[in-house]
This record gives sequence, C-alpha cells and structure tokens, in this order.
Amino acid sequence: MVKKIIVTGGAGYIGSHTVVQLVESGYEPIIIDNFSNAEHRVMDRLETITGRRTKLYEGDCTDEDFMRRVIEKEGDIGGVIHFAAYKAVGESVQKPLAYYKNNVDSLLVLLELMKQYNINNFVFSSSCTVYGQPDQLPVTEDTPKKPAESPYGNTKQICEEIIEDFVASVDDFKAVSLRYFNPIGAHPSSLIGELPLGVPSNLVPFVTQTAAGLREKLTVFGEDYNTPDGTCIRDYIHVVDLAKAHVKAVDFIQNSGGTTLNELFNLGTGKGNSVLEVIKTFEKVTGEKLNFEIGPRRSGDVEQVYASVDKSNKILGWTAELDLGQALKDAWNWQKTL
Ligand code: WQD
Repeated sequence: MVKKIIVTGGAGYIGSHTVVQLVESGYEPIIIDNFSNAEHRVMDRLETITGRRTKLYEGDCTDEDFMRRVIEKEGDIGGVIHFAAYKAVGESVQKPLAYYKNNVDSLLVLLELMKQYNINNFVFSSSCTVYGQPDQLPVTEDTPKKPAESPYGNTKQICEEIIEDFVASVDDFKAVSLRYFNPIGAHPSSLIGELPLGVPSNLVPFVTQTAAGLREKLTVFGEDYNTPDGTCIRDYIHVVDLAKAHVKAVDFIQNSGGTTLNELFNLGTGKGNSVLEVIKTFEKVTGEKLNFEIGPRRSGDVEQVYASVDKSNKILGWTAELDLGQALKDAWNWQKTL
C-alpha cells in the first residue's frame, strides 16, 4: 500500500478531520492549502491530536508550477484527496467567476499533473447539491442530477463531468467522488472544528454562535414547507464519520482490481432531520436554551433531501456511527473553545 496521500484543502474543516483519520489508519497525508478558508493553528492542533507533524505546502491548487514542484519534491505519491474549493452557496451567486476559476481550474491542474506523473488514485469532494430537490427520497447515486441551484453547485456538477470524461480518456486512472450531505460537528478533542468566516450561512454554526451569545438569535428560514413540522429536512452527518469515509474510499481504490474506476457515493446518515428537530436536539444535549424566531423562506433552499447510503455501506464498507445529538454536542464543545 502506497501511504503518501496529497490532501488539498487539508487544513480546512473536512480536510483536517480527514488528515486525522488518514494518520490513524497508517497513511501519510501531505497537506496543500492556501489558507483562504483555514487557520495556520490547525497544523499545531493536528500535531497534538495525531502525535506527528503533518507536512504542509502552502500554496494555491490553481498554480500549476507550485503544484508541479510539490509533486516532484514528494515523489512516490499514492493518491490525492481534493477538498480545496470555495463552498459558500450564497457567495457563489455574488462571485461566480471566482468560484468557476477556483473550483474548476484547481481540478484541471490537478488531473493534468496526476496524468503526467502517473498518480492514478483520486478522491473528489462533491456535494448533494447536485441532486437539487430530488423527486424521490432517500436519494440514490443514480438519481438524475438537477440543474444546479447556484454557481457553487454547478462547479460540483461540472467537476464530476470533467472527472468522468478524463477517466474515459486514459487507460489507468481510478476516481471516487463523494457526495456530502450536511457535514456538522467537530473532533471530540475540540481541537479542530468548523471555522466559518464572518456570519455563518450554515445552520449549525449559526446555532452554536447564537447559544454562545455571538449572534442575537437564529432565524428559521420558513416553516410553511410540506414537511411534518413545516421546516426543511436535511441529512446531517458528523464530520468525523465523513472523514472516516474518505479513508474507506482510499482503501477501496487501492484494493480495487483493474486499471480504471469512476464511482460516486452518497455520504450521509440516511436519516433526515428538520431545522426544528436540530434546535430541539441541540437544546436537549447541551441544556442551552436557543433564542430563535421563524422568518421567511431562504431562496434556493430545497424542501427536503437525505441520502440513501446503501451503496456506501455495501461497497465502501462504511456507515455513519455518530448521531445528530453527538454531532451537536461536539459542535457546542468546539464553539466554547473559540
Ligand atoms: C440547512 C437548513 C436552511 C441557516 C449546505 C451547503 C451546501 C452543501 C450542503 C456542501 C436549511 C436552514 C440555515 C439559518 C436556517 N454542502 N437554516 N437558518 O443549505 O442544506 O447546504 O450543505 O457541499 O454547499 O451550503 O445547509 O446549513 O445552510 O441549511 O433555518 O440561519 O437550515 O434553510 O433548511 P444547506 P444550511
């Protein structure tokens, strides 16, 4: 088993949790990050958690010369996990060109260099946003993609198609795209977690910041949806479970026979929870009272989406083990350290 794995965006939220799991599974992660959405202190925290200093190359994945230098310096690279991307749905509507350039160019640079240097194992960070509002639930990997609701979602669809065309064009390349549902929570050590820049657009960091007194109150974006309590339903998955799935994906590629592969996997719990259920569960597991009000719907929100995880269970041998309550407790413990 070749152990050296490049992790682009490895200092970020999901990337850093994945680095921990890679080390604990005997791999040697190499982080590439430009710290546009991560803090340098994560490197020290990773050393505390894993007991070793993860090698870091600070730079931008769209910079071909920089990426080439890293690959040439490191030599025997077994594979790449590509997290580095901009991921804020709302921001992508304001800055579409930045999102297309960063999210698509970084993939093009990476695939080109992997081809040149014969690095043939690739895990791509994709998203359930490719499904839009599914016609049937839970949503399976062969559910047709819907037109993206945002430039961000479109970059993920475009990247999946680029990977598909690339794999078909070469003889020897194995790719796995992981479609995340809603990642939440933090490492149980509370040493790493989500660091939203500015006002959080995602629900759980807004909940924890409200409970911490950083936000005056949480607004629930609509309670007139066609769901049991009227609020939107999502599949909230603990970031540690999500990280473990990436190691399973690397293992799956390493152990797969043949020379070509392109598989897609949903990474969720298979269970949907509403916004009000998240709030009630947060209050229950933390003992905190959350100040919230019901407000108007947020444009672009889908009513409900949650994953069928049969394929991930069967083929990756992976299933989420941590529940919503544990994720919210870990998110709260992390928030209290900030
Ligand atoms: C969840 C629910 C909101 C904030 C995100 C990412 C997307 C993808 C999936 C990565 C919705 C409601 C939120 C608030 C609220 N991840 N909400 N008040 O929209 O499902 O998508 O996860 O690829 O990129 O954006 O997550 O956390 O923003 O919203 O009521 O202050 O919480 O309406 O129903 P979303 P979210």
